[in-house]
Amino acid sequence: MDSADIDRQWWKEAVVYQIYPRSFNDTDGDGVGDIPGIIEKLDYLDELGVDVIWLNPVYESPNADNGYDIADYQSIMDEFGTMSDWEDLLDGLHDRDIKLIMDLVVNHTSDEHEWFVKSREGDEEFRDYYIWRNGRTDVDGWTGHLGPDDEAPPNDWGSFFGGPAWEYDEDVGEWYLHLFDVKQPDLNWENEEVREEVFSMMEWWLEKGIDGFRMDVINLISKPPSVTEHNPPEPDGFDATFDGPKIHEYVGEMGERVLSDDLLTVGEVVGDVSMDDARQYVGRDGDGLGMLFHFDHMLLDRGGDVWEYYGYDLTDLKDVFRHWQKSLEGEGWNSNYLNNHDQPRMVSRFGDDVEYRVESAKLLGTLLHTLHGTPYIYQGEELGMTNYPFERLDDYQDVDTLNPVQNALDEGVIENFDDVKDSVAALSRDNARTPMQWTDEEHAGFTDGEPWLAVNPNHEEINADTAREDDDSVFHYYRNLIALRDDDDVSDVLVYGSYDDLWPSHTDLWAYTRTLDDERLLVVLNFTSEDQQFRLPREDEDHATYADELPLHAGEVADLDTELLVSNYDEDVESDPTEFALRPWEARVYHLS
Ligand code: NOJ
Repeated sequence: MDSADIDRQWWKEAVVYQIYPRSFNDTDGDGVGDIPGIIEKLDYLDELGVDVIWLNPVYESPNADNGYDIADYQSIMDEFGTMSDWEDLLDGLHDRDIKLIMDLVVNHTSDEHEWFVKSREGDEEFRDYYIWRNGRTDVDGWTGHLGPDDEAPPNDWGSFFGGPAWEYDEDVGEWYLHLFDVKQPDLNWENEEVREEVFSMMEWWLEKGIDGFRMDVINLISKPPSVTEHNPPEPDGFDATFDGPKIHEYVGEMGERVLSDDLLTVGEVVGDVSMDDARQYVGRDGDGLGMLFHFDHMLLDRGGDVWEYYGYDLTDLKDVFRHWQKSLEGEGWNSNYLNNHDQPRMVSRFGDDVEYRVESAKLLGTLLHTLHGTPYIYQGEELGMTNYPFERLDDYQDVDTLNPVQNALDEGVIENFDDVKDSVAALSRDNARTPMQWTDEEHAGFTDGEPWLAVNPNHEEINADTAREDDDSVFHYYRNLIALRDDDDVSDVLVYGSYDDLWPSHTDLWAYTRTLDDERLLVVLNFTSEDQQFRLPREDEDHATYADELPLHAGEVADLDTELLVSNYDEDVESDPTEFALRPWEARVYHLS
């Protein structure tokens, strides 16, 4: 990569920190986090050094899906505070030079949203805001749920949260589509009025001063003709709903009408997104989004159900990242994340949360902050927070854990919860949602009341207070990683340098370079709890097991200044970057210039 080709944007140089407000900090003792609770922690965020906050939904909601079922896009949920609290939060962030992006959830609303209430009442103006269809009477071959008069749903799509994606409404006498919970009816983007409503709502938030949007399941908003034309059922469940036929028309219209390069925009795209689609979303002449959250790496260790957990191979993880890093190079921008509010804790999933928790949390942080793209930190990641020791089904609150498991038990797909409890505990979204661990005190200092979801008992050891006092903590390591993006000596190569995998087939080490002009970073990560050996091949050596086109060989390093920029072991390490031993979960980043 040449520095002359750099297309600079502030959001490429930024580090984003995600806050799940329900679990961040509670100030009124109701056991639920709130906006004043976030305000109370602004100095903490400032000390960490992050540039942007992504706030999960804080809008009015009956909370069937913790705020992703929105009843009013322009007001704040009572449990979280008021609009004036939210304005104070925005001011407090901007005073500290931290930006704010809001969650945009416009594939669906709550069934308690005024639009749906009116649609259901038969108000002509709102009827087509949602997707209403007649059921089918040709039920041959249909084995699922039947509606009144033995009618089958309009097609056989399943909901992401288990069960059919259609619900019969007695008053209307028709079925409505809900790709998520029954309380989350899908909006009808075919209807121009719906698009107008969404765009003007987005403009309203931008006028309030926000800095961008994270867009929930944005690639689902265009439904395929099997719904819009009311064809007979298709046998492909909800797969048929990804990147529908008018998706780029709708996202492109949003881009043109509302978005600009100066906003941070990141679209969540579910399913198997093709690179052509990805480039269309985020490419130079594309729809106008800045980044995508794809799921390719989040699906490596699991099947479609929350009880199907298999573990992952490092080579597969590298393949996913290499594919995205190289395919978007020069054309679009990556987002890099290893956990969020929908995923288990990264140190439990990809690291070793028992013996090498601190080392592996630091190593994973090193990866996220040295890949090409914008790093996203999920609250508590900077402390090395782990999965929760879930045991019983009653321990969970998440609709996406409870519904599918309960359906599978009812239908005999699972005989006993005990048979699947370890997998469910490894994968449930509730792992991410247990309260933030601030102190070693009761409820981890999260609330004076009863927390809505149990606090991880390991808060006695893992908490922000302890981490801030310990120079070797994950917290301080993250502060250093974040600060590197502002360090003039390395920031350009770190942010804009191209990515090249050195050793794609290595099952235990992940080694890569980042290159800008003749400056390089060499990143070497030991993804095991054992010692490993790293060696850069010499130029004339047969390097069959390394990358076909080796981005760096040992001879080149001899002519360069080398500096060990990052290391997650505090003892001195030998400084020859071409050959060295790595301790368990050791991470090193060399700057070569
Ligand atoms: C993706 C969100 O991240 C998740 O939390 C939510 O349940 C679904 N979209 C539905 O909005």
